[in-house]
Amino acid sequence: MARDLYYHTLPARILHWVNAANIGLLTTTGLYIRDPETFPFFAGMDIARKIHFIAMYLIIYGILIRIYYSYVSQDYRELLFRIRDIKGFPALVKYYLFLSKELPDYGKYNPGQKFLYNLWAVLVFFQAFTGFALYFPNVSAGLTRMLGGPLLFRQVHFLLTWVFIVTVALHIYLSFLGGWTVVKSMITGYFPEGEHMQPSSEPAGISEKI
Ligand code: HEM
Repeated sequence: MARDLYYHTLPARILHWVNAANIGLLTTTGLYIRDPETFPFFAGMDIARKIHFIAMYLIIYGILIRIYYSYVSQDYRELLFRIRDIKGFPALVKYYLFLSKELPDYGKYNPGQKFLYNLWAVLVFFQAFTGFALYFPNVSAGLTRMLGGPLLFRQVHFLLTWVFIVTVALHIYLSFLGGWTVVKSMITGYFPEGEHMQPSSEPAGISEKI
């Protein structure tokens, strides 16, 4: 009989939802700041900017604490994308294109997940870099000019926002495709032993807590 494994620890779950909320706030406020008529998510520019400025500090702390936690808990061993993970991509792509029904045993996270989670940390760094350059134009004037000017920084900041939007949408879609068990595991922490985190044509097994 399948047992429930303790899959996501409490700090990992809290950081997941805190970071998710901040990315959501940064994206929606950012789009509003860019073009309030096309993205009328907020009541005014003042409140949107305030939220953006609070969330930008929170996401930086959130990511730094997550990196620190992955070191102390040692879960970076499962999370860190390594060059050798590239070899796992063809089988994963075949599976997602319905060309194969089997997935290799990748361990806790498949190469696509690892790549995405690592990419988000890098993207937040670039968002912070371009964002702070826009935030403190006097301090960053020389550097900004050298690297292409504030307009370019603004466009890069905006473009990376769309990378977030597309990849977060993909992440949510694949999580729900994996089933409620997958989504629930990020709330309760538990996941049935032997089940794949990836979408499966098999019905989810009945699980039992340990
Ligand atoms: C992580 C640190 C970040 C900093 C320091 C930062 C800072 C800023 C600043 C200063 C602005 C200009 C606000 C204004 O003109 O009133 C801005 C705009 C914006 N931010 Fe951020 N931000 C950060 C993260 C993010 C993230 C993670 C996203 C989305 C995922 C995002 C999306 C946007 C968008 C779409 C705009 C509007 C850009 C435009 O007008 O073209 N920001 N940000």
